[in-house]
Amino acid sequence: MKEFRLSKSQIEQLAEKYGSPLYVYDEETLRTRCREMKNLVSYTHFKPNYSAKANTNIELLKIIRSEGFHVDAMSVGEIILEEAAGFLPEEILFISNNVTSQEMQFAVDRGITVSVDSLSQLETFGRHFPGKKVGVRLNPGVGAGHNKKVITGGKSKFGIELEEITTIKAIAEKYSLHIVGINQHIGSLFLEGSKYVSACHTLFEAAREFDELEFVDLGGGFGVPYQGEDRLDLEKLSRQMQQVIDEFLESYRNKELEIKIEPGRYVVAECGVLIGQVNSIKVNYSEKYVGTDLGFNVLMRPVLYDSYHGIVVYNNSEEEEKVTVVGNICETGDVIAKDRVLPVMMEGDYIAVETAGAYGYSMSSNYNARLRPAEVLIQCDGTDRLIRRRDSLEDLARQL
Ligand code: LLP
Repeated sequence: MKEFRLSKSQIEQLAEKYGSPLYVYDEETLRTRCREMKNLVSYTHFKPNYSAKANTNIELLKIIRSEGFHVDAMSVGEIILEEAAGFLPEEILFISNNVTSQEMQFAVDRGITVSVDSLSQLETFGRHFPGKKVGVRLNPGVGAGHNKKVITGGKSKFGIELEEITTIKAIAEKYSLHIVGINQHIGSLFLEGSKYVSACHTLFEAAREFDELEFVDLGGGFGVPYQGEDRLDLEKLSRQMQQVIDEFLESYRNKELEIKIEPGRYVVAECGVLIGQVNSIKVNYSEKYVGTDLGFNVLMRPVLYDSYHGIVVYNNSEEEEKVTVVGNICETGDVIAKDRVLPVMMEGDYIAVETAGAYGYSMSSNYNARLRPAEVLIQCDGTDRLIRRRDSLEDLARQL
């Protein structure tokens, strides 16, 4: 498929119409990525659950739902947004982490399945909702991810150790709970699937210990290249997963068992770019800084994880130079790209930060009392549509 890249005139038109900074998403790319995930496993009861934390824009959620996805939620807020996008209770899985009984209640009242993340939360669930169905998140001991902050399998706060399965069953019995699902998520962004497949194998082994399962959820983490790496080999991963799944299903009693995955980044990362504008250029102690309106309140990933994002410069410059591209936030760490060789830029030039659709807007903030940007969708017919307005100064003042 062709990579999503805006032309110079498109960028200029969009920035003129909607302002800068601006998140722009491409519907066609989004749908393509959805279909790839949907076709990963061929099994009637295979269901990709989009992990909404990657991007909760309601219009994008609607498109993802229209591609046949269900969805996971990490919070009551995500549940509200998912409902607003049309997801039904039975299409939502609340993968909770350290929540109150009131938050559990919110989901239970709506008929949304809750998966709990510790023995203590299973106790809390049991005390408040005896006799109900519940899922548990297991931690298979294996992790994978682009940064230690996002590796969740193994030593982390997430999931219940496999050694505790007997205790899980004892708590379930004490409160007459039905363990209807097990899930895991070993971490975010792998471009090589062996650890994921091995964790799937481990989870299915664990699944044999439960006999009322309605679903097994293998988690997300499917990576995309940010820096020209080879793409995740979906065909190979598909073959490997299919084998593990088939082996398990052969001998499991519930032939209708749903198998879920939870991709977030893979679905939305590549359909999004972030447009920004150059406000100043300076040399300080022999380092050249390109000062833009893309502070880390708008895109946090480079600052938080040292993540690399490609930058496209929209000017006619034929010369290149090494620069550090920074934002407009009052911290030295407010850097989007350090020592990057890019076309020589001038004040007023537009740039686009690539692969910004996942964990871009969803992690943006009002730090420095800055406004979060608008979001625009390029629809399949080529027209553009505002799908979230920019914050206004009145929005900030409304906090009083
Ligand atoms: N399921 C669970 C339970 C998760 O915690 C996550 C992500 C996912 C699924 C989806 O993972 P994905 O397919 O997107 O890798 N902010 C970080 C990523 C944090 C991921 C948190 N959990 C980043 O910008 O790289």
